[in-house]
Amino acid sequence: MRKKIVAGNWKMHKNAQQTAALLQDLMAKIPATTEAQVIVAPTFVNLASAVTQLESANIGVAAQNMHQAEGGAFTGEISADMLTSIGVKTVILGHSERRSLFHETDALIAYKVDTALAHEMTVIFCFGEELKDRQSDNHFNIVENQLKDGLFHIANESWSKIVLAYEPVWAIGTGETASPEQAQEMHEFIRETVRKRFGAEISDELTILYGGSVKPENAKEIFSKPDVDGGLIGGAALKADDFLAIVSAI
Ligand code: G3H
Repeated sequence: MRKKIVAGNWKMHKNAQQTAALLQDLMAKIPATTEAQVIVAPTFVNLASAVTQLESANIGVAAQNMHQAEGGAFTGEISADMLTSIGVKTVILGHSERRSLFHETDALIAYKVDTALAHEMTVIFCFGEELKDRQSDNHFNIVENQLKDGLFHIANESWSKIVLAYEPVWAIGTGETASPEQAQEMHEFIRETVRKRFGAEISDELTILYGGSVKPENAKEIFSKPDVDGGLIGGAALKADDFLAIVSAI
Protein backbone atom coordinates (compact mmCIF):
# COMPACT_ATOMS: atom_id res chain seq x y z
CA MET A 1 0.00 0.00 0.00
CA ARG A 2 1.34 3.40 -0.89
CA LYS A 3 2.55 5.86 1.70
CA LYS A 4 0.29 8.68 2.93
CA ILE A 5 2.00 11.98 3.70
CA VAL A 6 0.94 15.32 5.14
CA ALA A 7 3.65 17.93 4.70
CA GLY A 8 3.64 21.51 5.93
CA ASN A 9 5.42 24.04 3.75
CA TRP A 10 6.09 26.98 6.03
CA LYS A 11 7.34 29.18 3.19
CA MET A 12 8.99 32.42 4.44
CA HIS A 13 7.22 32.34 7.81
CA LYS A 14 8.44 31.80 11.38
CA ASN A 15 11.71 33.07 12.80
CA ALA A 16 13.92 30.90 15.02
CA GLN A 17 11.87 31.35 18.19
CA GLN A 18 8.56 30.93 16.40
CA THR A 19 9.85 27.81 14.67
CA ALA A 20 10.91 26.26 17.97
CA ALA A 21 7.54 27.13 19.53
CA LEU A 22 5.50 25.66 16.68
CA LEU A 23 7.58 22.48 16.67
CA GLN A 24 7.15 22.20 20.42
CA ASP A 25 3.41 22.56 20.04
CA LEU A 26 3.33 19.95 17.26
CA MET A 27 5.36 17.49 19.30
CA ALA A 28 3.13 17.97 22.32
CA LYS A 29 -0.09 17.44 20.39
CA ILE A 30 0.72 14.94 17.65
CA PRO A 31 -0.88 11.54 18.26
CA ALA A 32 1.57 8.74 19.12
CA THR A 33 0.80 7.08 15.81
CA THR A 34 -0.51 8.71 12.66
CA GLU A 35 -1.63 7.05 9.49
CA ALA A 36 0.25 9.64 7.50
CA GLN A 37 3.93 10.41 7.58
CA VAL A 38 4.19 13.99 8.88
CA ILE A 39 6.79 16.37 7.46
CA VAL A 40 7.50 20.04 8.10
CA ALA A 41 9.52 22.37 5.88
CA PRO A 42 10.78 25.41 7.82
CA THR A 43 13.06 28.00 6.22
CA PHE A 44 16.72 27.20 5.55
CA VAL A 45 18.05 29.00 8.61
CA ASN A 46 15.89 26.93 10.95
CA LEU A 47 16.43 23.51 9.39
CA ALA A 48 19.34 22.40 11.56
CA SER A 49 17.61 23.34 14.80
CA ALA A 50 14.40 21.69 13.59
CA VAL A 51 16.26 18.44 12.91
CA THR A 52 17.74 18.54 16.41
CA GLN A 53 14.46 19.45 18.07
CA LEU A 54 12.54 16.72 16.24
CA GLU A 55 15.18 14.03 16.79
CA SER A 56 12.95 11.78 18.88
CA ALA A 57 9.66 12.90 17.33
CA ASN A 58 7.77 11.21 14.55
CA ILE A 59 7.99 14.25 12.31
CA GLY A 60 10.30 14.58 9.32
CA VAL A 61 12.04 17.72 8.09
CA ALA A 62 12.22 18.90 4.49
CA ALA A 63 13.89 21.84 2.77
CA GLN A 64 11.77 24.13 0.61
CA ASN A 65 14.31 24.35 -2.19
CA MET A 66 17.99 23.79 -3.00
CA HIS A 67 20.50 24.69 -5.68
CA GLN A 68 21.25 22.26 -8.47
CA ALA A 69 25.05 22.54 -8.35
CA GLU A 70 27.26 20.52 -6.05
CA GLY A 71 28.89 23.71 -4.79
CA GLY A 72 30.76 26.77 -5.96
CA ALA A 73 30.39 30.51 -6.32
CA PHE A 74 26.63 30.78 -5.97
CA THR A 75 26.11 33.50 -3.38
CA GLY A 76 23.14 32.88 -1.16
CA GLU A 77 22.46 29.33 -2.34
CA ILE A 78 22.27 26.00 -0.51
CA SER A 79 23.48 22.65 -1.86
CA ALA A 80 22.16 19.12 -1.46
CA ASP A 81 25.31 18.17 0.43
CA MET A 82 24.71 20.99 2.92
CA LEU A 83 21.19 19.75 3.52
CA THR A 84 22.07 16.10 3.96
CA SER A 85 25.01 17.03 6.19
CA ILE A 86 22.55 18.39 8.76
CA GLY A 87 20.18 15.45 8.40
CA VAL A 88 17.69 16.87 5.89
CA LYS A 89 16.89 14.11 3.43
CA THR A 90 13.79 15.52 1.74
CA VAL A 91 13.45 18.57 -0.48
CA ILE A 92 10.48 20.31 -2.07
CA LEU A 93 11.26 21.15 -5.72
CA GLY A 94 9.31 22.96 -8.40
CA HIS A 95 6.91 24.79 -6.11
CA SER A 96 4.79 27.21 -8.13
CA GLU A 97 6.25 30.15 -6.21
CA ARG A 98 9.73 29.04 -7.30
CA ARG A 99 8.46 28.64 -10.85
CA SER A 100 6.67 31.99 -11.09
CA LEU A 101 8.53 34.33 -8.71
CA PHE A 102 12.03 32.91 -9.20
CA HIS A 103 11.63 31.91 -12.85
CA GLU A 104 12.51 28.25 -12.38
CA THR A 105 12.00 26.35 -15.61
CA ASP A 106 11.14 22.68 -16.11
CA ALA A 107 14.74 22.11 -17.24
CA LEU A 108 16.16 23.70 -14.10
CA ILE A 109 13.81 21.71 -11.89
CA ALA A 110 14.82 18.51 -13.71
CA TYR A 111 18.46 19.36 -12.97
CA LYS A 112 17.62 19.89 -9.29
CA VAL A 113 15.78 16.56 -9.24
CA ASP A 114 18.90 14.82 -10.56
CA THR A 115 21.09 16.46 -7.95
CA ALA A 116 18.71 15.54 -5.14
CA LEU A 117 18.51 11.94 -6.34
CA ALA A 118 22.28 11.73 -6.61
CA HIS A 119 22.34 12.58 -2.91
CA GLU A 120 19.66 9.97 -2.20
CA MET A 121 17.22 12.62 -1.12
CA THR A 122 13.46 12.27 -1.41
CA VAL A 123 11.91 14.86 -3.71
CA ILE A 124 8.47 16.37 -3.23
CA PHE A 125 7.91 17.45 -6.82
CA CYS A 126 5.32 20.22 -7.18
CA PHE A 127 3.44 21.07 -10.32
CA GLY A 128 0.07 22.36 -11.38
CA GLU A 129 -1.75 24.57 -13.82
CA GLU A 130 -2.60 28.26 -13.59
CA LEU A 131 -6.14 29.59 -13.70
CA LYS A 132 -5.83 30.60 -17.36
CA ASP A 133 -4.86 27.03 -18.25
CA ARG A 134 -7.93 25.61 -16.57
CA GLN A 135 -10.17 28.26 -18.09
CA SER A 136 -8.85 27.42 -21.55
CA ASP A 137 -9.24 23.71 -20.84
CA ASN A 138 -5.50 23.22 -21.19
CA HIS A 139 -4.85 22.02 -17.64
CA PHE A 140 -4.21 18.38 -18.46
CA ASN A 141 -1.64 19.32 -21.12
CA ILE A 142 0.17 21.70 -18.79
CA VAL A 143 0.33 19.20 -15.96
CA GLU A 144 1.43 16.39 -18.27
CA ASN A 145 4.23 18.52 -19.72
CA GLN A 146 5.47 19.65 -16.31
CA LEU A 147 5.53 16.03 -15.18
CA LYS A 148 7.30 14.77 -18.28
CA ASP A 149 9.81 17.60 -18.51
CA GLY A 150 10.67 17.51 -14.84
CA LEU A 151 10.69 13.81 -14.10
CA PHE A 152 10.34 11.45 -17.03
CA HIS A 153 14.09 11.22 -17.58
CA ILE A 154 14.71 9.50 -14.23
CA ALA A 155 15.41 5.79 -13.88
CA ASN A 156 12.67 3.40 -12.76
CA GLU A 157 14.39 2.75 -9.44
CA SER A 158 14.45 6.47 -8.63
CA TRP A 159 10.67 6.66 -8.38
CA SER A 160 10.80 5.29 -4.84
CA LYS A 161 12.38 8.65 -3.95
CA ILE A 162 9.66 10.74 -5.61
CA VAL A 163 6.51 12.16 -4.06
CA LEU A 164 4.28 14.21 -6.34
CA ALA A 165 2.38 17.27 -5.17
CA TYR A 166 -0.32 18.49 -7.52
CA GLU A 167 -0.96 22.12 -6.68
CA PRO A 168 -3.26 24.07 -8.97
CA VAL A 169 -1.80 27.57 -8.80
CA TRP A 170 -5.25 29.17 -8.62
CA ALA A 171 -5.89 27.33 -5.35
CA ILE A 172 -2.66 28.27 -3.56
CA GLY A 173 -3.18 30.73 -0.74
CA THR A 174 -6.41 31.93 -2.34
CA GLY A 175 -8.89 30.15 -0.12
CA GLU A 176 -10.25 28.58 -3.28
CA THR A 177 -9.75 24.83 -3.19
CA ALA A 178 -10.04 22.43 -6.07
CA SER A 179 -13.16 20.39 -5.48
CA PRO A 180 -12.46 16.84 -4.32
CA GLU A 181 -13.70 15.71 -7.75
CA GLN A 182 -11.30 18.06 -9.58
CA ALA A 183 -8.42 16.84 -7.41
CA GLN A 184 -9.32 13.19 -7.97
CA GLU A 185 -9.70 13.69 -11.72
CA MET A 186 -6.23 15.23 -12.00
CA HIS A 187 -4.55 12.78 -9.62
CA GLU A 188 -5.99 9.87 -11.58
CA PHE A 189 -4.72 11.43 -14.79
CA ILE A 190 -1.25 11.93 -13.27
CA ARG A 191 -1.07 8.34 -12.02
CA GLU A 192 -2.19 7.07 -15.41
CA THR A 193 0.42 9.21 -17.18
CA VAL A 194 3.14 7.71 -14.97
CA ARG A 195 1.73 4.21 -15.47
CA LYS A 196 1.84 4.50 -19.27
CA ARG A 197 5.54 5.33 -19.21
CA PHE A 198 6.87 3.49 -16.14
CA GLY A 199 4.32 0.74 -15.47
CA ALA A 200 1.72 -0.06 -12.85
CA GLU A 201 4.15 -1.23 -10.19
CA ILE A 202 5.61 2.28 -9.98
CA SER A 203 2.39 4.25 -10.47
CA ASP A 204 0.47 2.21 -7.87
CA GLU A 205 3.14 2.92 -5.26
CA LEU A 206 3.47 6.61 -6.09
CA THR A 207 2.28 9.01 -3.40
CA ILE A 208 0.43 11.97 -4.94
CA LEU A 209 -0.34 14.87 -2.60
CA TYR A 210 -2.84 17.62 -3.20
CA GLY A 211 -1.95 21.21 -2.27
CA GLY A 212 -3.95 24.41 -2.42
CA SER A 213 -6.00 25.89 0.44
CA VAL A 214 -6.33 22.61 2.33
CA LYS A 215 -7.89 23.36 5.72
CA PRO A 216 -9.26 21.30 8.60
CA GLU A 217 -12.76 21.86 7.16
CA ASN A 218 -12.09 20.43 3.70
CA ALA A 219 -9.21 17.98 4.26
CA LYS A 220 -11.29 14.89 4.99
CA GLU A 221 -13.31 15.13 1.81
CA ILE A 222 -10.25 15.75 -0.37
CA PHE A 223 -8.26 12.95 1.28
CA SER A 224 -11.16 10.52 0.88
CA LYS A 225 -10.53 10.38 -2.87
CA PRO A 226 -8.77 7.21 -3.97
CA ASP A 227 -5.85 8.84 -5.78
CA VAL A 228 -5.21 11.57 -3.20
CA ASP A 229 -2.57 10.29 -0.79
CA GLY A 230 -2.25 13.31 1.46
CA GLY A 231 -1.51 16.99 1.24
CA LEU A 232 1.09 19.70 0.95
CA ILE A 233 -0.20 22.36 3.28
CA GLY A 234 0.76 26.05 3.29
CA GLY A 235 -1.16 28.53 5.44
CA ALA A 236 -2.89 25.94 7.59
CA ALA A 237 0.45 24.36 8.51
CA LEU A 238 1.40 27.44 10.52
CA LYS A 239 -0.85 26.57 13.44
CA ALA A 240 -0.34 23.27 15.25
CA ASP A 241 -4.04 22.63 15.84
CA ASP A 242 -5.01 23.22 12.22
CA PHE A 243 -2.13 21.20 10.84
CA LEU A 244 -2.76 18.28 13.16
CA ALA A 245 -6.47 18.35 12.36
CA ILE A 246 -5.48 17.94 8.71
CA VAL A 247 -3.09 15.11 9.64
CA SER A 248 -5.96 13.39 11.46
CA ALA A 249 -8.19 13.76 8.41
CA ILE A 250 -6.19 11.11 6.55
O1 G3H B 1 3.09 24.40 -0.53
C1 G3H B 1 1.92 24.61 -0.21
C2 G3H B 1 0.99 25.18 -1.13
O2 G3H B 1 1.54 26.27 -1.80
C3 G3H B 1 -0.38 25.43 -0.57
O3 G3H B 1 -0.47 26.62 0.14
O4 G3H B 1 -2.25 25.79 1.66
O5 G3H B 1 -1.55 28.18 1.70
O6 G3H B 1 -2.83 27.28 -0.24
P1 G3H B 1 -1.85 27.01 0.86
